[in-house]
Amino acid sequence: MTVTIARQGEIAVVTVDNPPVNALSAALRQGLWDAADTLDADASVAAVVLVCAGRTFIAGADVTEFGKPPVPPHLPDLVARIEGAQKPWTAAIHGSALGGGLEVALGCRFRVAVPDASLGLPEVSLGIVPGAGGTVRTPRVVGVPAAVDLVTSGRPMRAAKAAEAGLVDAVIQGDLLEGAVTFARQALTRPLPEPASSRPVAAPEAEFWAEQEKAVAKVAKGAAAPLRALACLRKAAEAGFAEAMAFERETFLELRGSDQAAALRHVFFAERAAPRPAALRDVEPLPLRRAAVIGGGTMGAGIAAALRDAGLPVVLVERDDEAVARGMANLRGIFDGAVRRGKLTEAQAAARLAGVAGTTDYAALADADLVIEAVFEEIGVKRAVFEQLARACGPDAVLATNTSYLDPRAIAEGLPNPGRFIGLHFFSPANVMKLLEIVPVPETSDRTLATGFALARALKKIPVRAGICEGFIGNRILKRYRAAAEALVRKGVPIAEIDAAMRGHGFAMGPFEAQDLGGLDIAFLQREGARAAGQDVAETLGDILVRVGRKGQKTGGGWYDYAPGERKPQPSASVAELLAREIAPGAAMSRDQIAQALVAEMAAEGQAILDEGIAQAPADIDLVEIHGYGFPRWRGGPMFATGIRG
Ligand code: 3HC
Ligand code: NAI
Repeated sequence: MTVTIARQGEIAVVTVDNPPVNALSAALRQGLWDAADTLDADASVAAVVLVCAGRTFIAGADVTEFGKPPVPPHLPDLVARIEGAQKPWTAAIHGSALGGGLEVALGCRFRVAVPDASLGLPEVSLGIVPGAGGTVRTPRVVGVPAAVDLVTSGRPMRAAKAAEAGLVDAVIQGDLLEGAVTFARQALTRPLPEPASSRPVAAPEAEFWAEQEKAVAKVAKGAAAPLRALACLRKAAEAGFAEAMAFERETFLELRGSDQAAALRHVFFAERAAPRPAALRDVEPLPLRRAAVIGGGTMGAGIAAALRDAGLPVVLVERDDEAVARGMANLRGIFDGAVRRGKLTEAQAAARLAGVAGTTDYAALADADLVIEAVFEEIGVKRAVFEQLARACGPDAVLATNTSYLDPRAIAEGLPNPGRFIGLHFFSPANVMKLLEIVPVPETSDRTLATGFALARALKKIPVRAGICEGFIGNRILKRYRAAAEALVRKGVPIAEIDAAMRGHGFAMGPFEAQDLGGLDIAFLQREGARAAGQDVAETLGDILVRVGRKGQKTGGGWYDYAPGERKPQPSASVAELLAREIAPGAAMSRDQIAQALVAEMAAEGQAILDEGIAQAPADIDLVEIHGYGFPRWRGGPMFATGIRG
């Protein structure tokens, strides 16, 4: 049974139990409808408490039903049924009340929640708008500005903030059901508030909407749903309830069938499948209690911060005392930044830092369960580190390298017990970026592999398994993408036009401005290394720039010029002159054609990566591009966008 009814005196308790997240399947909708009928007909019931079993309140509509024709009872009708019930319903919320879950709660006369509950309307992140009154009832309960924030951002709010906003009537400390029943009983002694649908809403002026439109479009970067959600809210503020409901439903059904919604559902399910690969289902990971990082530079400090954010104590090993001090200062910088942005309190930041022991002594690693190496990208330096790790660490400790381009097999060579070795490729800044490429060597044991995935879960990262090749999945595609962008420049497409095309396609940045930000020298040095090793690596346009000292923003210029202290790229006459001999004049391409061409190149490299077994599935490549390289989420990734699925 998905819905059961119990009694506590005159209060009926309706319990929803539809694991894993109580999603509103057709059976659950019917069950709730029947419960409303049963309870309306029972004269001994004075009020109803709606509560959920398991880890959460109703987490929303059942996303797996979205590709199929809607089945009655439809959710908007169910919400209206609950709202129109003859006894007042109180939603008792724990975990998350999201999307349709919050809409059901808005149909209830009251909402109470435990302090760590979160309430939200995340529909826009699935490419849709709320479809059961979320845009119409929310402004009537919390006012238009708060509703705009909730609906267009898709970000949930915690119970305390929801209570301030008026979305929650009471925050329940202690047992939720007991508190909710007491609340429902006491509410019977006071006059009933209006149902949400009958409450008035104050309509803001036209300027308000114009401003919101601008702000929402800026963040949406081409995603359609946030602006459509805003239009629904405006309708809710300016038209009557029924008209606004009809407008919302029409928008919901249209978007549900859109390409963007299909892409976002693809990403939604890919993200949930990634942390738990089927092949490792029966493999127990090693428990992770103590971690260590070797190297406290850009990556090492970021990785240490990520480990601390997950609550693990960390030993940070550097090569000398000065470098230890620099590494600790890097970490302090990361945590101070989190304080400035309001993400951590001073005390929390101090505790995060206090959990890192900086040292030069490998003896401190004796009881580490996991060691991540992030020293210079030089094979000799890395091998020397792993020789020391072999002596210092326990025989079962997982030993990982964060190398970007070196062959992990060469780093692991000669390591005793190589089953514990693995590549864990983080992205910069490592405490922020969600992607983690997991790169086993042939000797890596399943247990070590499973531990890599368990680490990703602990760090709330999206893990993707990658095979061994230069650049693994992400940097290999990046190389092809950049080469393809350079090829367009050689054909005469202006640099700024290519960047604008990719931004217009939904990327945060184009390929050239991104290189200027990160620095052109890293890839240059890598190519020079390959040339020095006798490989035939063609001269790139980027090489020409680096050879005259144009390494990007940090040198005042790269593909563009930058005024001192400015980050705004200015097309560069010097670059035009430097590259003049390489460029054939005047290929005319629309921005759309440019973007299509570059995404097609990414997908072609992705296909090669699949064919070689470097990636396991197209969806993995999509996750890499979305979470590591700023590919627009609402396009589903380069593979999905070009029809390579499965
Ligand atoms: N429909 C169907 N399945 C869902 C689902 C949903 N709405 N939400 C989660 N699931 C599934 C996941 O796919 C996963 O399945 P698996 O175990 O087979 O991989 C399982 O439930 C557990 O999900 P998580 O791993 O994400 O569990 P967490 O405990 O980490 O998180 C959660 C729980 C916060 C509820 C999270 O699952 C979540 O954010 N879910 C999505 C909520 C959402 O977007 N709701 C809005 C839906 S749209 C809507 O309601 C339209 C309406 O307006 C008409
Ligand atoms: P970095 O130069 O900022 O930091 C390297 C650190 O290692 C320095 O602090 C140095 O003192 C320390 N170190 C050097 N030899 C050591 C030794 N023998 N023992 C202990 N510490 C030692 O370099 P960065 O950028 O952090 O890169 C580190 C590794 O991470 C490299 O393998 C790099 O390819 C990889 N990587 C870098 C990314 C980036 O965006 N910077 C992204 C992903 C991986």
